[in-house]
Order: sequence, then structure tokens, then C-alpha cells
Amino acid sequence: MRSRNLTRVWEGGNDLSCYTGAMDDPGFKDHLEQISERWARALAFAGYDAAIVTAGISRNYFLDDQSPPHRINPHFLQWCPSELAEGSALLIVPGRRSKLYFLQPDDYWHQAPELPGWAGEFEVEVCVDAAALLRNIERAALASGNHIAFVGEPGPGGPENFLTQDLNPSLLINHLHFERATKTAFELACMRAATAKAVRGHLAARAAFEQGLSEFQINLDYLAASEQLARELPYSNIVALNEHAGVLHYQHYDRSPPAEVRSFLIDAGGNHNGYAADITRTYASNPGSLFAELIGRLDAAQQSLIDHISPGTAYLDLHVDMHVRLAGILEEAGLVTCSAASAFEAGITETFLPHGLGHLIGLQTHDVGGQQSGIEGGVVPPPENYAALRLTRALEPGMPVTIEPGLYFIPQLLDRARNGASGDLIDWSLVDALIPFGGIRIEDNVVLTDDGVENLTRDAFGR
Ligand code: GLY
Ligand code: MN
Ligand code: MN
Repeated sequence: MRSRNLTRVWEGGNDLSCYTGAMDDPGFKDHLEQISERWARALAFAGYDAAIVTAGISRNYFLDDQSPPHRINPHFLQWCPSELAEGSALLIVPGRRSKLYFLQPDDYWHQAPELPGWAGEFEVEVCVDAAALLRNIERAALASGNHIAFVGEPGPGGPENFLTQDLNPSLLINHLHFERATKTAFELACMRAATAKAVRGHLAARAAFEQGLSEFQINLDYLAASEQLARELPYSNIVALNEHAGVLHYQHYDRSPPAEVRSFLIDAGGNHNGYAADITRTYASNPGSLFAELIGRLDAAQQSLIDHISPGTAYLDLHVDMHVRLAGILEEAGLVTCSAASAFEAGITETFLPHGLGHLIGLQTHDVGGQQSGIEGGVVPPPENYAALRLTRALEPGMPVTIEPGLYFIPQLLDRARNGASGDLIDWSLVDALIPFGGIRIEDNVVLTDDGVENLTRDAFGR
């Protein structure tokens, strides 16, 4: 089916019989309509007639002919949900059908991508040469108006003829990022599918932990059960036994299991059409241990917190509420010698939970726009003592977020607290005994609906 000409125009209409990869997710047409409307609003707001959005092209490592796996520009992916569109580009002109310039390289070293089934929603030009593709799309864009925005990475696969101020112009990008927090029905369906994959992986990982396998083997079992390659994951899996669970983004995979297995934290995700699931579970080897009790308490607090979400809830308030609840857990478990209220006031919970309660999630694990005040792009930073909080917006229906409280025993932070003003409010014999367990994180992905909260993660686990 491939032509040796530099480009050819595909005029197949909706006859996709010669192509594979039909879009089987519901609501894709409606999704495209909503995304088109968003782009029309954003382009008008920023003063542009049209936009070129490139998928991007991978870059080789320094002085090498190998490259890391390529990640498609999320702005492209939102229109064209294919990880196999490297080098392709989209021309968006409000009021017109968008046009996909699809790269099908004439390359006998690699398998060229098939044109996906959803391409029938676009006008399509198939190109076999990346540079010609860009020249063609730039020519077509300039024929549709004087003010063209370019959205994508500059450099190879980027524009040649665009002024710097038209590259990812902030007025346009901020508008798009702010609105991207709210997902379409298609996007939520993709996130449910990503969650289903991740949960299959989590169940296999738990079984591998219970068999006493190594971090390395647990990770392999996760990948196999979730049917994902490591490069397809939304982020590198965190597979942490014992004290490794106290390293927030633990990145290694020990090849051998430890002599004694006490605890297991797994933060591992799923990807469907570029949409992410981001899920963490923590397990104790001994169900009668204090560590197991703490997992149960944190789990209950997380679920109760989720029950309190309603339209307009400020995410910062949830984050603070979680610290208040964590102070209660510290008091009940005897980890502090003062009241929960005093522990909270003294900032002791910040030693045990140094990261934010969560973040927006979607095309990116940490989706963009979490601290934006509006479409124009102002920033609402978190308070200084909660500097790691990525999300300071109010929650609205259709805006998926993670809720991921933790309770960690991190030697560096504990040492600072031990020598700090509130050091004598902590029961160090209990806390020191918990350091070998690392820590706990429980992470669900939730979205407000018109009549409550959908917990994508617990629904997939069967609660
Ligand atoms: N997996 C990274 C995070 O939970 O934010
Ligand atoms: Mn997360
Ligand atoms: Mn996570």
C-alpha cells in the first residue's frame, strides 16, 4: 500500500478497509468535536488563525545512533491517539476539518506505522519523508492565514519558518492547559481502560510479593499481567521492598529478594491511548504488625477523605485535611506523645508526609495546569510548608485527580525532626522500629461526576 512518492493524498473518506487499527473506544467523534471547540476558543483568544501541532521525532543519545523511546507531544495525542505517529503533524484551522499529515517513512530498517482507523475523522495526507511533510504542512498553514501557531518541540521535526513568539505561544498553551484538566467522556473511558490494565498488573505483583520474589521479578510479573512494555508505561514503576518503600521515587529493581521481607510498596500505572493510570498499593508481610495497622488506618482515612470531595472543593483544603487526619493516626498509633492537634500545629506530619496529596492526571501522569488560576495562565502556588503540592485548583466534575496520602519513615527527614524543636513530641523507639518498613502510600485516581465521586481505581479492583 505504500507509495514511493514523497507524499500522496489519501482520499479514502470513511473507507478504511485498507488500514488497520480502528478506534474501538466510544465517544471519539464527540471528543474530537469538544477538542475542536476548545482549540477554536484558544486560538481566537491568542490571536491565531491556525495551528500546526507536531507529534515530534526522537533524538539520539549524545554521540550515538540510538534514541530513548519517543513520547508523542500530548497536544497531538489528544487529537490523534496513537503512539505510532512519530514525525506526523496536524493542521488545525477553526471551522475546517483538521488535516493529518501522517508519516509513513520509506524505511526498510523499521516497520512503518499503518494509518490508524480513526484517521477517517481527518483529512489525510500520507508522507514518506519527514522534511517534506513539514514543508507541506507549513505551506498549507500559511495559505489559511497570516498568524500560525506552532505547538511542538522545536529542533528536528520542528518548524523552520516560524517566529520564536509563535512557537508554543504562552497565551495559547495556557488556555489549552487550563481546559485540559476537564476530560471528555472518551478520555475518561481511556483512563478506565488504563486503570484496568494497571490493576491486572497490581494483582500479579501482589501475588509475586506473597511468593517472596525479588523487586525485579515482581516488576516483570506486573508488565506481563498488564500486557505493557516498560516503555509504554506512563512512568517508571516503583517496586519497593522494605526500606526502599521510604524512597519516594525508588528507581532500582533488586535482582534478589531480601533475606527478610517486611513490606511492599508498588506505584505502577497503565496507559491506554496515551492516557494514564497512576496507582499505589502497600502491603505488610505480617498482618498483625503495627505497620499493617498503619496501612489500614491510612487506607480508611484516604477513603473517608475521598467521600468529602464535592464540586468546588479546593484541593489545598483536601491536602490540609489529610494532614489533620494523619496527625490523628500518629496519635492513635502512639507515634507522637502529644495530641493530634498539637502534632499538626507543630508541623510534625510534614516529616511523615513530605509530598503533595496528589495531582491532575490524564495525558500526562502529572497533568499540566494544576496550579493555574485561569485560562490566561496565572499561577497559584501552594503555601511554603506544602511546596511539593502540584494541584491548587478547585475540583470540578470531569477533572480526574489522584488522592495519594503517604506515611513514610525516611531517615533524612526523621533525623531533621529528631534534632528539631518538636523532636521530643515523637516516640523515637516506635518510629525507629518502623524505618525498616520504609513507608506507606495509597493512591487512587478519582473523578467528580454530576452525582458523586467515581473512584476509577477501586472500581477496577472491585473496592
Ligand atoms: N507515580 C508518581 C506519582 O504518584 O505521582
Ligand atoms: Mn501520583
Ligand atoms: Mn503514583
